[in-house]
Amino acid sequence: MARPVVELAGVCKTYGDVAALRDADLVIGRGELLAIVGPSGSGKSTMLNIMGTLDRPSAGMVRIDGHDVAGLSDRELSALRAGTIGFVFQQFHLSSGVPALDSVADGLLYSGRPRGERRRLAERALRRVGLGHRLHHQPHQLSGGEKQRVAIARAVLGDPPLLLADEPTGALDSRSGAVVIELLHELHEAGTTVVVITHDRDIAATLPREVRVKDGRIEHDSGGPAPSRSLVPERAVVPEEAVR
Ligand SMILES: Nc1ncnc2c1ncn2[C@@H]1O[C@H](COP(=O)(O)OP(=O)(O)O)[C@@H](O)[C@H]1O
Ligand SMILES: [Mg+2]
Repeated sequence: MARPVVELAGVCKTYGDVAALRDADLVIGRGELLAIVGPSGSGKSTMLNIMGTLDRPSAGMVRIDGHDVAGLSDRELSALRAGTIGFVFQQFHLSSGVPALDSVADGLLYSGRPRGERRRLAERALRRVGLGHRLHHQPHQLSGGEKQRVAIARAVLGDPPLLLADEPTGALDSRSGAVVIELLHELHEAGTTVVVITHDRDIAATLPREVRVKDGRIEHDSGGPAPSRSLVPERAVVPEEAVR
């Protein structure tokens, strides 16, 4: 199996006396499209923040694109994140008054690329999400669905292998939400590994793999690659597993 993009082993996260994530094991292979689904407060965003290296676990091992996060300084972690992960959030996070093209191009501000090239790449990304006709629109001139597509263009600008979307349709009507999900499918088909966090079971059910979270625990995983040998200790096959 190719090196997994995300590996979590025994990951826990506590906030004071709240156990937001308990003993999570999850392996996400390159090129997967999956949903992490669960009710509000179940630990989904906590898991996304840990997979996205925005937060460190209280216990357990996190490996992103083969790198053990525990061994990296904050600076190295930022570099890994910048080169590997795109983020999409429920609330779009677009600055008011900034045209779509600039919002997206600013994603490459620290990439060392000249301004003209940043804008060319941004335009290409906006065309890719179907917004070639909205390059100079500001957020208040865009619909919710269009705003989210700008945010997705910004997230995939540098072609990150991993896209993490936290409730990407949470602020959208169902039609715009469907367009966004369709777009995530297209990105997946083009080779990006896409993780969609949602509390919406209908959306989760349309994706090839569903990981259900409840009270900070993974209670069901409909699929995924074979466990990585590097992570899972050898153990005897118990009859229940043998018959699967
Ligand atoms: N920064 C934080 N400080 C304290 N508690 C938090 C923090 N982030 C999340 N929690 C708590 O952890 C639990 C899981 O939260 P979260 O991961 O945001 O759930 P979800 O995204 O599934 O709604 C909740 O009980 C929440 O209140
Ligand atoms: Mg959340």
